[in-house]
Amino acid sequence: MGKVYVFDHPLIQHKLTYIRDTSTGTKEFRELVDEVATLMAFEITRDMPLEEVEINTPVSKATSKVLSGKKLGIVPILRAGIGMVDGILKLIPAAKVGHVGLYRDPETLMPVEYYIKLPSDVEEREFIVVDPMLATGGSAIEAIHSLKKRGAVNIKFMCLIAAPEGVDALKEAHPDVDIYIAALDEKLNDHGYIVPGLGDAGDRLFGTK
Ligand code: PRP
Ligand code: URA
Repeated sequence: MGKVYVFDHPLIQHKLTYIRDTSTGTKEFRELVDEVATLMAFEITRDMPLEEVEINTPVSKATSKVLSGKKLGIVPILRAGIGMVDGILKLIPAAKVGHVGLYRDPETLMPVEYYIKLPSDVEEREFIVVDPMLATGGSAIEAIHSLKKRGAVNIKFMCLIAAPEGVDALKEAHPDVDIYIAALDEKLNDHGYIVPGLGDAGDRLFGTK
């Protein structure tokens, strides 16, 4: 079964409070999501493999460690996932970026896919699928299905806020996928919104309604 990690670092919790607050405007919301994505990327890359290389410091020869060239792909779920990409790329600038376009039908809450574009070497890459919200789990489950259908075998999922219902559904549908969360909230309301959550992530990021 996939593991669930909650990154409750004080800096992440602090920034998340302002992300949630309704008085936070679009510009600040976007900046805070970007910052939290960077902090989460720092944690999520903790187990990245290293290899030793020989270097010369100004003082002597040395054996030192560098990342062992693992191929990474970031896949934001459109739209709101876009808000997390730059923050991750600050730490992993060589990662390739794919996109999965999904929206939640407001009546059925079921995800509808309208776009997908992935790097060509899907089988060899480790993917991090990103979206600020894991609510019913439908969008994340469908996005990960799409990646697997195209050959992806190594996938992690990262979000800011999750509902317990979404975590359970994602674990059930994709038991091989580890889930990384900044906050695990209380529940979903009758409209499929996370409580207390942050509202509509896409609208708050892009200033739409
Ligand atoms: C939001 C959010 C997730 C999805 C989560 O996107 O960004 O993708 O809902 O809900 P779920 O877990 O119940 O599927 P939305 O469908 O509102 O589209 P948008 O990003 O284009 O605003
Ligand atoms: N999508 C959002 O943007 N917010 C929620 O609370 C649930 C789904």
